[in-house]
Amino acid sequence: MNDETRLATLAESSAALVEEGMVVGLGSGSTAEAFVRALGARVQAGLNIQGIPTSRNTEHVARGAGIPLTTLSDSQVVDFGVDGADEIDPNLALTKGKGGALLYEKLVAEACNRWVIVASSEKLVDRLGTRIALPVEIMPFGWETTQARVEALGFAAPLRVAGDGVPIVTDGKHFVLDCATG
Ligand code: A5P
Repeated sequence: MNDETRLATLAESSAALVEEGMVVGLGSGSTAEAFVRALGARVQAGLNIQGIPTSRNTEHVARGAGIPLTTLSDSQVVDFGVDGADEIDPNLALTKGKGGALLYEKLVAEACNRWVIVASSEKLVDRLGTRIALPVEIMPFGWETTQARVEALGFAAPLRVAGDGVPIVTDGKHFVLDCATG
């Protein structure tokens, strides 16, 4: 099975778990976006649900897929949610946030009665932190002091920047430290 077919299979399987009338958390990243598109196909076929996107990118994809949207403020209990992961260890502990939607993803996940992580086997690791650095979303206010406190734990935590050196800003208007925990 190639990557594209695998992603489509994961997306359709997770979209099949959504039931009529649900409020659904819509994760961020390429896996979650595939889920959103598959869910959109079910909506076009008559499924009546509302989605809560966890990022502006996902909101854009969900609108394009024709999924009616609500917000965490208006729908504080979320029936079900689907998201991707960056790394998953043998105990099913996982990391997320490579895409920069950490905080919103976690707030929606916390509100979900059931939250499903969809990932292919490439995300499986023996130890978290070995495949990608651990993203931590921080306040821009005095961010250097936060970075120093994080680095005092014993690893480098560089600020995530764009090619021009300007800090990447999340949808929540925060910065990200990519912690090389090893
Ligand atoms: C977004 O901030 C992330 O948490 C993603 O959910 C995670 O990085 C997985 O993304 P992919 O599905 O693109 O691998």
